[in-house]
Amino acid sequence: MSVAVVGTGSIGVAFALVFARAGAEVRCWDPLPEAIGRARADLADKAATLHRHGLLDDPDAVLGLVTLTSDLSTATAGVELVQECAPEDVELKRDLFARLGELTGPDTVLASSSSAISASRIGHDLPAADRILVGHPGNPPYLLPVVEVVPSPLTRPDVVERASATYADAGLHPVRLRREVEGFLFNRLQGAVLREAYCLVRDGVASVADIDAVMRLGLGRRWGVVGPFETVDLNTRGGIGVHAGRMGPAYARMGAERGQDDPWTEELVAEVVRQRREAMPLEEWEQRVRWRDERLMDLIADEGGSAPSA
Ligand SMILES: NC(=O)c1ccc[n+]([C@@H]2O[C@H](COP(=O)([O-])OP(=O)(O)OC[C@H]3O[C@@H](n4cnc5c(N)ncnc54)[C@H](O)[C@@H]3O)[C@@H](O)[C@H]2O)c1
Repeated sequence: MSVAVVGTGSIGVAFALVFARAGAEVRCWDPLPEAIGRARADLADKAATLHRHGLLDDPDAVLGLVTLTSDLSTATAGVELVQECAPEDVELKRDLFARLGELTGPDTVLASSSSAISASRIGHDLPAADRILVGHPGNPPYLLPVVEVVPSPLTRPDVVERASATYADAGLHPVRLRREVEGFLFNRLQGAVLREAYCLVRDGVASVADIDAVMRLGLGRRWGVVGPFETVDLNTRGGIGVHAGRMGPAYARMGAERGQDDPWTEELVAEVVRQRREAMPLEEWEQRVRWRDERLMDLIADEGGSAPSA
């Protein structure tokens, strides 16, 4: 596997480690000479830290796979995938992808790490539009192994397939979005929580620190093991359908308080129940609850073997 990382700030350096850790040859480019120097030091520091935590066997071997260059055509020559990690600026990204399209062959995947700019906005009118997609990581991707793959309507299916396969080979779980939405999944979900958190501070309900504590020690800890749908599926005997019947009206009132009107209709709940029952038949409920509790116990044990404290 060979990839180019374009822009060597926080996300660029992190992606370089992810790909090199999986054995890929990684060529990094940045237009600013000082950014290249900083990236070299940053790569070594992060590799050493991962090694100290038992997450990287051979830092020197991994660093040996990464080269840094000030020549974009050297970085991109013959690579399977370009991971663009430049500043979040639509015009800058459009210029960059126009150049990347010219420098690479018809099968090279051109992926943007953008947090909020869609592949359509970056490249709908560029000749390489059919090779451009968003590959949005969590920060840092060497610790959060999920990447959102968001094609535009013009992205070729084989490009989407190859991007997903490359990420999977690099140890990232690719989640493919069915259509472009602002913020993708990561920031829409984070945004839903943040919007409410801001309202709670504004309304004097709790402090910033207390809200962070509820997330850190409560919801977030559990979400590290099961997502929000599986959480309520396992919290309610009878599963998520029973939960929706019991709690739906209260959640609708809380939404209305914030000016939101997105009711969980019967059809919507039925679809969510269908997908959950496909993933886990209700007969396995007790076993899965036990599994969740044991994973949480593992997490606590990994943190030193005692119950978490604030
Ligand atoms: N930081 C995050 O939490 C996070 C998470 C997911 C995705 N992203 C996305 O990743 C991208 C990079 O973010 P970051 O936090 O690493 O930014 P950063 O500011 O740390 O790094 C940006 C790098 O791009 C370089 N650069 C400047 N102009 C450039 C150009 N014309 N072409 C190529 N490189 C150029 C800079 O020298 C710098 O090294 C953004 O699109 C951002 O939205 C960021």
